[in-house]
Amino acid sequence: MKNIILTADRPTGRLHLGHYVGSLRERIRLQKEGNYEEFIIMIADAQALTDNAENPQKVRENIIEVMLDYLAIGLDPKKITFCIQSMIPALPELTAYYMNLVTVQRLFRNPTVKSEINQKGFDNEKTGIPVGFVNYPISQAADITAFKANIVPVGEDQEPMLEQTREIVRSFNHIYKTDTLIECKAILPENPTCYRLPGTNGSNKMSKSIGNCIYLADEPETIKKKINSISSMPRNIDEPGILENNIAFIYLEAFVTDEHFKKYYPEYKNLNELKKAYTKGGIGDGTIKKFLNNVIQDTLKPIRERRHIFENQIPEIIKILKKGTNKAIKLSNETLKEVKKAMAIDYFNDDSFEKNQIKKYN
Ligand code: TRP
Repeated sequence: MKNIILTADRPTGRLHLGHYVGSLRERIRLQKEGNYEEFIIMIADAQALTDNAENPQKVRENIIEVMLDYLAIGLDPKKITFCIQSMIPALPELTAYYMNLVTVQRLFRNPTVKSEINQKGFDNEKTGIPVGFVNYPISQAADITAFKANIVPVGEDQEPMLEQTREIVRSFNHIYKTDTLIECKAILPENPTCYRLPGTNGSNKMSKSIGNCIYLADEPETIKKKINSISSMPRNIDEPGILENNIAFIYLEAFVTDEHFKKYYPEYKNLNELKKAYTKGGIGDGTIKKFLNNVIQDTLKPIRERRHIFENQIPEIIKILKKGTNKAIKLSNETLKEVKKAMAIDYFNDDSFEKNQIKKYN
């Protein structure tokens, strides 16, 4: 079986280093490997609205921002279909049918939903929880199954969504005695450090709403300032450095290559050697941050430069999105047709409907 790869991002802001190591780098790898029939990347604007209903302008403004980030990191519209979620009518329709296969209780047990309810303050009596928001795991299952995707490169926090999707696939196929829907699996980074990159302030997730991100599009001065702001434990330089919860080292773990050592820190061959020396003492955190700054600058420079080029090609980018969305509409309509057939609600495409009804009343 040839793979169908699908993933999506909410357009609520520019993409940052957490996205980059958690999922974007894996997409580049999958694109390079080329072992797929379809590779679809969706801008999940409808999902973004589930907690931004009062702010559609923010979602609208970030569609092109996210596209620019995609193109800047090297995702290639010749090899990937880019599309906009809200423009694909099969998705809400599939969602509506899947909603009957999932209990409200199950949605509230989803750990990602739980922590987001908390984080967004929806647990507050006054605001309450939007129905669309608790429902988004089901709509995400529609995103994935509409294209029969089997491979989903996502951050580790999305695993509960994929589990929910697999449950829906199994119920659907079981209840309607069909094999229409396909089970998916997540593709996570090889290096677990990349599952969830901490923020520059030390909190356990890089997140726009916390304001602790380094964005792919940040300018060199901004990057430098943010890296300098990473807190480190005060100590005398001769004292041993501590690696545990050391944000600068976690970032190095996610980004540094041996090439970087050759170029910027030839005293050491690789991260293991540097770690050993650091824990013996004698290396200050300023030195580590300087090295880290070089590494991150090196990583982001080509991305930023490509982004600036694409910023002059907005009409072409919108064309790419239109073309991809049209293709996605077609592909998902085919699945929707099969779904309705499996459920026997495709009345007008099914000759036996008319025949049986005539017989029944004769
Ligand atoms: N929930 C994902 C996020 O917040 C975005 C998303 C929407 C998605 N639909 C998807 C991811 C389908 C993978 C597959 O990042």
